[in-house]
Amino acid sequence: MKDYALRNSSFLPSAFGEMTLLAAQYSAVNLGQGFPDFAPPDFVLQAAKEAFASNLHQYAPPRGHGRLQQALGRTLEPSLGFCPDPTLEVTIHCGATQALHATMQALLEPDDEVIVLEPQFDTYTPQVLLAGGVPVYVPLHPKEATWELDFQELRAACSSHTKLMLLNTPHNPTGKVFTRSELAQIAKIALEFDFYVISDEVYDRLVYGVDHVSIASLPEMRERTITIGSAGKMFSVTGWRIGWTVSSAAIASAIRAGLQWTTFAAATPVQEAVALCLERMKNENYEQDFRSSFLAKRDFLASALEGAGFKVWHPQGAYYIVADASRFTDNATEFSKRIIAEFKLAAMPMSVFYSAATRETAIPGFRFAFCKTQKTLEAAAQKLELLNLS
Ligand SMILES: Cc1ncc(COP(=O)(O)O)c(C=O)c1O
Repeated sequence: MKDYALRNSSFLPSAFGEMTLLAAQYSAVNLGQGFPDFAPPDFVLQAAKEAFASNLHQYAPPRGHGRLQQALGRTLEPSLGFCPDPTLEVTIHCGATQALHATMQALLEPDDEVIVLEPQFDTYTPQVLLAGGVPVYVPLHPKEATWELDFQELRAACSSHTKLMLLNTPHNPTGKVFTRSELAQIAKIALEFDFYVISDEVYDRLVYGVDHVSIASLPEMRERTITIGSAGKMFSVTGWRIGWTVSSAAIASAIRAGLQWTTFAAATPVQEAVALCLERMKNENYEQDFRSSFLAKRDFLASALEGAGFKVWHPQGAYYIVADASRFTDNATEFSKRIIAEFKLAAMPMSVFYSAATRETAIPGFRFAFCKTQKTLEAAAQKLELLNLS
């Protein structure tokens, strides 16, 4: 038989899948993959019931279900600093993953350079490559309190070939939340080198004692920013697969030109359910409860990790903790397999958040997800205690 396409041949199975399989094999407490292990709130489940009971069982338009576009426009206005035109500027996708894909397909020509900050959410590099782009990596440096971008390094990585930068705030895996002044420096460089910014803000509701700022709200950035969000992260329903882009009408129409020939549209009743959730979340006091429950989880896990001898960067946002494991090992990838087998605890080695070219620079550490029940976190704390005593 003839060969398969080269296009996908360099992509290895995701390390997340491998870790989840290993965790299941050893019945380990799984703080590897970032999905909640608890039921979504009642009002979210109620919205799903109502949405499937309504008469919305046929195709939505490729740009999205009108009610969801409207609800998103209203929800995102405070952070964007403008109300996006729901019909022209808000586009619905099958999760943020597909929103990233559709946006890069719309923006990138072969050999366009894309700035990728590392550590990175592991989807970014394959998505850039699928769109024919060339990733250019710029490190975030671990400092005492948080991870920092060196703006001289960022500027040095940019050129007339730079088409796009992938920004993620709050950041997976480090939990960094970019400050307004950091975003202003990125914006200055984006204007100087005339590139677009994809701002992946899927954890925008989860910030702890700091403000989430959207780069699209900064002067002159609205037209060159594509802001991405995810209902999966916002309402703890990662299986619903609803995400969105907010962009200029011109970029939206380039994105939609591709959408109509690929996914066509996300599931209509699920879009309706997300719209109902957005419409109701204020009355439910949802955001405050969501944030405070995750803050308690963060603090619990951070202190268990510190108690076990890890150095921890207390995340300012999202639901992951990066912990330096140099007390135990200088090879976290090997060690991650050992702690699953011996201590029944799964976490992602930091190397998976780097490209093959830069993997060596990863700290000997792990990313632990804390989007888990108190019971799961307590079980993890017990395993950490055993690790500490070993
Ligand atoms: C930074 C970041 N962006 C995007 C996604 C993907 O979101 P979705 O599940 O909506 O595709 C994730 C999921 O973990 C993420 O961490």
